[in-house]
Amino acid sequence: MRTQVGIIGAGPAGLLLSHLLHLEGIESIVIESRSREYCETRIRAGLLEQNSVDLLNDAGLGARMNELALPHDGVQFTFDNTYHRINLTELTGRRVTIYAQHEIVKDMIGARLQAGGQIYFAAEAKEIGALDSAKPLIKFVHQGAEKTIECDYVCDGFHGISRDTMPASVVRGYDRVYPFGWLGMLIACKPPSHELIYSHHPEGFTLFSMRSPEITRAYLQVPPDDDIKNWSKDRMWSQMRKRLGKHEGLELQEGEILQAAITPMRSYVSEPMRYERLFLAGDSAHIVPPTGAKGMNLAMADVCVLARALIAFYKNNQTHYFDSYSEICLGRVWRAEHFSWWLTTMLHPFYDASPFDLRRQIAELHAVFGSKAGQTLVAENYAGLPIVNWRP
Ligand code: FAD
Ligand code: PHB
Repeated sequence: MRTQVGIIGAGPAGLLLSHLLHLEGIESIVIESRSREYCETRIRAGLLEQNSVDLLNDAGLGARMNELALPHDGVQFTFDNTYHRINLTELTGRRVTIYAQHEIVKDMIGARLQAGGQIYFAAEAKEIGALDSAKPLIKFVHQGAEKTIECDYVCDGFHGISRDTMPASVVRGYDRVYPFGWLGMLIACKPPSHELIYSHHPEGFTLFSMRSPEITRAYLQVPPDDDIKNWSKDRMWSQMRKRLGKHEGLELQEGEILQAAITPMRSYVSEPMRYERLFLAGDSAHIVPPTGAKGMNLAMADVCVLARALIAFYKNNQTHYFDSYSEICLGRVWRAEHFSWWLTTMLHPFYDASPFDLRRQIAELHAVFGSKAGQTLVAENYAGLPIVNWRP
């Protein structure tokens, strides 16, 4: 098999890249280890920055999003029995939007297949080879048979194989594991507010998000090695209620808990994001704890930089965008890493915190959310930093 750009992973990063390249007449093949159905139903992220929404509309992927998405002008925080609302639109001129990642993935897969795009599902990439030649290779297994794609460039949206491909002397990883995880729940009930609520409580953080006006997506901070078996539905409800606290206008209604699972929290960056003809994009190069809602947005921002470089090469024979790919992405990545780390450490009480640590954390929350300067800093980062135009 032969194509111009070989793409590993049908997540938002790989699929968006394939779509943007197609819009400019550039061919790609996407290899995805899971089934189409799994990719289209896997519950992951939910919050899109304004720039990501604008990008999806610009790329012709916004039809279902514009019908189903829930735009929010603000975001709410509770701590120390106080309530604060950040008016994102007033402070930044931008909004955030709730639209589930699996719906975006569904829209992207639909658009690619309708345009005759090639996506191999249940196809596991095993090896990337010949990267220093003009014709790199991706070896993968599909329906029990070993296959090879020859391409000009490789985009890896999953880190596993790149790690073995990039020489250890070139790559550096930066890692931080948090001493807590999130128990994520999908609940058949009206969310407590039409906007997201992030709550700090001495017994742990909780977040109320949503997937629709009738479906709540909630998260509870739990110990990192906790087992879902330790969490009865009654315990989930009593912790959600306690941690949210009582605030006028915020009402937690009950409904059936449809799904519940625990995810660990981690920050990770791999530098550089390019090696020869291999480019890393999205979670393959960086992970953020979900508190800042940055992961999927960062994946899309990387892809804009990469699409621009590939389009400039195929259309105008320019290569300078390849050389700046890693540096441009990493500038934005580290800003998001900082913001996600900051929000996470500010909003989660650490289980080994001393009484001093807890009071200091609450003082920080009052300092940030009680001041317009503090709120603006949160709002600018939460609503999202600028992204590059993918058209060179
Ligand atoms: P992925 O979506 O992980 O895609 C990689 C793909 O590669 C997968 O489909 C995988 O199956 C495939 N793959 C793996 N190995 C192979 C192989 N060997 N061969 C072929 N294919 C392979 N982000 C936000 O922006 N906003 C949020 O609100 C938000 N909330 C989150 C909440 C939770 C609980 C979690 C866990 C994450 C959240 N995120 C959020 C993060 C977001 O989901 C990820 O950052 C996003 O999925 C990154 O997209 P990606 O395309 O880079 O990677
Ligand atoms: C979600 O809706 O899943 C979500 C929203 C905001 C976050 C994390 C997750 O910070």
